[in-house]
Amino acid sequence: MNNFNFHNPVSIIFGKNTIAQLSDILPQNEKIMLLYGGGSIKRNGVYDQVTKALKGFDYVEFSGIEPNPSYETMMEAYEIAKQENVTFLLPVGGGSVIDGTKFLAAALCLPEGVESWGILQGTVPVEKAMPLGCVLTLPATGTEMNGNSVVSRKSTCEKLSFGSLLVMPKFSILDPEVCFSLPDKQIANGIVDAFIHVMEQYLTFPNNTPLQDLWAESILRVLIDTAPKVMSDHTNYDAMANFMWSATMALNGIISRGAIEDWSTHIIGHELTALHGIDHGRTLAIVLPGNMNIRRAVKGKKIMQYGERIWGITQGSDNEKIDKTIEKTVEFFESLGVPTRLSAYNLGKETCLEVAQRLANRGVVNFGEAGDITQEVVVKILEDRI
Ligand code: NZQ
Ligand code: ZN
Repeated sequence: MNNFNFHNPVSIIFGKNTIAQLSDILPQNEKIMLLYGGGSIKRNGVYDQVTKALKGFDYVEFSGIEPNPSYETMMEAYEIAKQENVTFLLPVGGGSVIDGTKFLAAALCLPEGVESWGILQGTVPVEKAMPLGCVLTLPATGTEMNGNSVVSRKSTCEKLSFGSLLVMPKFSILDPEVCFSLPDKQIANGIVDAFIHVMEQYLTFPNNTPLQDLWAESILRVLIDTAPKVMSDHTNYDAMANFMWSATMALNGIISRGAIEDWSTHIIGHELTALHGIDHGRTLAIVLPGNMNIRRAVKGKKIMQYGERIWGITQGSDNEKIDKTIEKTVEFFESLGVPTRLSAYNLGKETCLEVAQRLANRGVVNFGEAGDITQEVVVKILEDRI
């Protein structure tokens, strides 16, 4: 097991009717900015719950943060936050609203004149951030309990991420009932995203982490068990609650401590979103099976452990067991209506080459848990999924 530090300061408030607690936990005497997306919170009653709890607080609103939040939109929020002397940020939404707000939190505290895009390029360190607290409306990303943020720049078609303990929320409110209004597609995307977050931290190579492995496997099991329930009935509170908590636990740092992590499926997937606008979770469902197939020399032992413990695959040669395990994984994603091939989006060889070239141009080479993913391997992983 690798050495590690672990500190997760996010306070989680989970359950029915918990949004009302905002009035107790929001800091007094701050200028609050309430941030949200394209309006789902107005249609499902979350906006009303939040604004009711905000009575008596001094706040401004910023709306219109789009899926895959853009730098351009967040800079509009930046201008308003500066003008209004905002001191506390309250994102209400899915991963996009929360991630965009984390970036804003860091950007607002940069010294005058420093270009905030550098935070995402990794050239500007985050030394300070404005505090934020969240209301999550979409289980998927785990952003409610981590320090990560992914932001896209429309003008350059880039999708980049940064991570800092300083942008971890002070609190996150998770009321499964607010997710009842999610469309099928977003629920499916969220299940796949959470599932693959676990895979990025688990499906690497053995590193003497039996406890972390069992935690990871238990999250996968609960997601597999819950998926059909939540897909067939969005108002099944018990199923939604288990999905929501699993998605949070999948990326709050616990299962990866001391373990080997990969993240190459995400790195490649982000390019598919940047280039073709494919939803985040959907890009992962394409890339992961190719990653497992092409990189079986690196991942083989863990693929077989996963195959046996999650799908009960025990028969056949190692290669046969790996093949069956990939098949079961693909079947699971497809059962949610999430395609696992590039051709489902009318994409082919050209995209495989373009993604690999874009990564190479940015110096993203020799990545993955074994540093074995070259430009050629990216092409092979994607070509495997045409
Ligand atoms: O904008 P509104 O109107 O709110 O609608 C949203 C949006 O259209 C809608 N929605 C959210 N909650 C809803 C709802 N509709 C009905 N009822 C509700 N309760 O869902 C749509 C998608 O929302 P979005 O926030 O984009 O989805 P998600 O939570 O999947 O976030 C995706 C973003 O997170 C990043 C992704 O790359 C992508 O940019 N990620 C962030 C991570 C992190 N911070 O740790 C890790 C992930 O790997 C991921 O990269
Ligand atoms: Zn993800």
